[in-house]
Amino acid sequence: MIAHDILIIGGGLTGLRAAVGLCDRFDVGLVTKVYPLRSHSIAAQGGINAPLANNPESRDDTWEKHSFDTVKGSDYLADQDAVELMCREAAPIVYEMEHWGCPFSRFPDGTIAQRPFGGAGYPRTCYSADITGHVLLNTLYERAVAKGVRVYPEWVVTSLCVEDNRCHGVVVLDMHSGELIPIRAGTTFFGTGGYGRVFANSTNALINTGSGIGMAYTAGIPLKDMEFVQFHPTTLIGTNILMSEACRGEGATLLNNQGERFMGRYAPTAMELAPRDIVSRCIQTEINEGRGFDHPLGKYIELDLRHLGEKRIKERLTGIRNICLDFVGIDPVKEPIPIMPGQHYSMGGIDVDIQGASEVQGFYAGGECACVSVHGANRLGGNSLLDTIVFGKLAALAITEEIAGGGRRQPDEKPLLRLRNEVEAKLKRLAAPGREKTAILQQEMNATLFAKAGIFRIAKEMEEALAKVLELKERYRHCGVTSPARHMNYELVAALEMEYMLEVAHTTVLGALLRQESRGAHYRNDFPSRNDRDWMKHTIARRGPDGDPVISYREVTVTRYQPMERK
Ligand code: FUM
Repeated sequence: MIAHDILIIGGGLTGLRAAVGLCDRFDVGLVTKVYPLRSHSIAAQGGINAPLANNPESRDDTWEKHSFDTVKGSDYLADQDAVELMCREAAPIVYEMEHWGCPFSRFPDGTIAQRPFGGAGYPRTCYSADITGHVLLNTLYERAVAKGVRVYPEWVVTSLCVEDNRCHGVVVLDMHSGELIPIRAGTTFFGTGGYGRVFANSTNALINTGSGIGMAYTAGIPLKDMEFVQFHPTTLIGTNILMSEACRGEGATLLNNQGERFMGRYAPTAMELAPRDIVSRCIQTEINEGRGFDHPLGKYIELDLRHLGEKRIKERLTGIRNICLDFVGIDPVKEPIPIMPGQHYSMGGIDVDIQGASEVQGFYAGGECACVSVHGANRLGGNSLLDTIVFGKLAALAITEEIAGGGRRQPDEKPLLRLRNEVEAKLKRLAAPGREKTAILQQEMNATLFAKAGIFRIAKEMEEALAKVLELKERYRHCGVTSPARHMNYELVAALEMEYMLEVAHTTVLGALLRQESRGAHYRNDFPSRNDRDWMKHTIARRGPDGDPVISYREVTVTRYQPMERK
């Protein structure tokens, strides 16, 4: 059996940063279902927040101001001790990445360039044109390669092994050989990303199924705040590829079919740079009230960059221009971009503390699959890249400390072998002909969640969504794949992951239905106000003995920022 001191699942920024922090002292294995450079972190565009105070307009920026913006942006659901920790770490982590070779864009004086982003009091988003995730991921991957981190690419984790409140490792499917392999580890760390693809119209890569989250939940680890799902205001019509907030940070405007810059009616001061949840709702309202444009693929609003000029667009928004040319045949230098809001980020996730530790011994998580919580009900743009690297680093330090303090665990082989046999039986079941197909179930789940648990929510529709999820769970029992082959069988992998996606959908919809208030990205037409008295608390979803979620609530940690109205 393969064994490592520490096993990291996920080759994105969080997993790589954790691996880099651990591999000098421990035997680390990193399992990833795609090659690390194909992780979704690569898709992050606009930048990473840190109060470097390089921009002439941000000279008096501080980590405290960054914390305040983050807490306020979270609609006061974020745990303030966690936010303070992340914001204190922001400047050192950006400089660490710079010293490791990350090619940030520069101001003329040579300092790292910073642009304005939504909901931030100062221009503090450090960037590399509009490919910031790309350069950060390449920098960390190079470092991991230089340090000799052992990577297992195209190995898909099928199950997490937890017994007697201890994690013993995972069972993986090697996509090439088709073999099921148990891997034993004293500590397992998940950096498996968010659950965007549970929804239709997502900016997320197809790999962002949320299966890591569903897997942890199925193994008995609770989830937190799953109802909080971010919808990015500007995604390209048709494909929903991200049209970075950097566009608006550089000065792009939003126009309805009357040619009106409508944000003036909703947020006259912040305009297009109001926080994302607000801008998404404004765009959707314009569309719902008939002020959108028609397109064969849906209604849209225009994102206008033309006044920025060709030089600036080509220099700072190169990727955006190329995507527009390639996918809709539009040159943003000459024409506005057709956009609509789309699912973008998962604020909820595996319940962990500020060191990434879960309630199960030997199991940690970080980045988008985890909920610390630093983003609360709504994440600020530029804080996700920060979260990935900071909490990858902090988890590595916490794991090191735990082991140095005598916490090295001897994982047990027997539960892993039992789990391997269970997965083998499941694969055999899925390989037999079935009357249901995973792709159909996924389409129905995606459409239901976007339409009924999306930007605007109401009890009746969420009850319908819940009924649909329960129906899909039942139908999933009759799923079968077309070919029983194990070699690179993506249909088989999708069928395995579907079980976890349905658990994620279930906890998301149930949490949203129960939360009778509006907060951040969770907007209830039937409860339009925030209710701090009853709802300033985290939702905890635990899998009950009958397989259904059992919901409880936990207080939010408040340090120095008392809730105020967010306008
Ligand atoms: O709009 C963007 O570039 C996305 C940034 C983020 O989600 O942090």
